[in-house]
Amino acid sequence: MRTAEQVGKLVDRWRSAGRRIGFVPTMGALHKGHLSLVSLALREADRVVVSIFVNPTQFGSGEDLGSYPGAFNEDLAKLEKAGVHCVFSPSVDEVFPDGFSTSVNVSGLTETLCGKYRLEHFNGVATVCAILFSIVKPDIAVFGRKDAQQLAVIRRMVDDLRFSIDILAGEIIRECDGLAMSSRNSYLNSSERKQASVIYRGLSRATELVSEGERVAERIYDAVREVIGTAPLATIQYLELVDPVTMMPVEKLTTPALLAVAVYFGHTRLIDNVILNR
Ligand code: PAJ
Repeated sequence: MRTAEQVGKLVDRWRSAGRRIGFVPTMGALHKGHLSLVSLALREADRVVVSIFVNPTQFGSGEDLGSYPGAFNEDLAKLEKAGVHCVFSPSVDEVFPDGFSTSVNVSGLTETLCGKYRLEHFNGVATVCAILFSIVKPDIAVFGRKDAQQLAVIRRMVDDLRFSIDILAGEIIRECDGLAMSSRNSYLNSSERKQASVIYRGLSRATELVSEGERVAERIYDAVREVIGTAPLATIQYLELVDPVTMMPVEKLTTPALLAVAVYFGHTRLIDNVILNR
């Protein structure tokens, strides 16, 4: 479906029939990570809507909006096979009609990690999710832990703006060598792709260190940097231990914390994370 009106009518019918509605927002180029969120939604709801919308407002200038991978027909086939009830693929004008002037700014937790380097990114994400939530009016919405800061931002926004939506989190789905699945992995050339598994090896080293008793963030960083540093094509943008709700840095592991990393391979920026639990 292409318009908000069509989707609105369909979900209104479902709701009057007492159906529980699940929603999975995506930007398409679907992989097993996305499909795992769809499965979770199908388990938790009676009817599932998936949106495919490459949201221009969450890309900074100089980012990959123009080249963002698209595979619409393949995506539709995958979603149909999965048993999704509605695919919502609006145009940019449908989502942001002439005169659109609102921006949802979730402050604080958008200022660390990715937010430091992608200044308008989370405003774009929060705004488009607020619009999509208002159109689909789901009972539950599913987001991946791969984008842990995005998940935290959406949870904060849903609480603050009183959307009555349960936000569920899907685990990170990985390739065989540990690389977190991402639409952007397709940008990697073969040597970058080979080396990219170093990110997961670095995060796994952190988990191992913590299980041996390490609690100090700086020493965890040193160990992870050492592992990632073995890949000549990798450049770390940030590596930070943060509170999983507020995204504020923590120096010592006293409660479960999120170790988040962004690494460049050439022009391709990959993110990943792990929860460290003492
Ligand atoms: P996109 O990058 O397409 O991701 C859609 C959803 O899939 C997000 O919730 C993301 O965290 C999840 N996801 C991606 N890779 C995953 C993996 N390897 N394992 C588990 N989940 C994974 O995130 C966005 O789109 C956009 O910002 C959006 C929320 C749609 C707003 O425009």
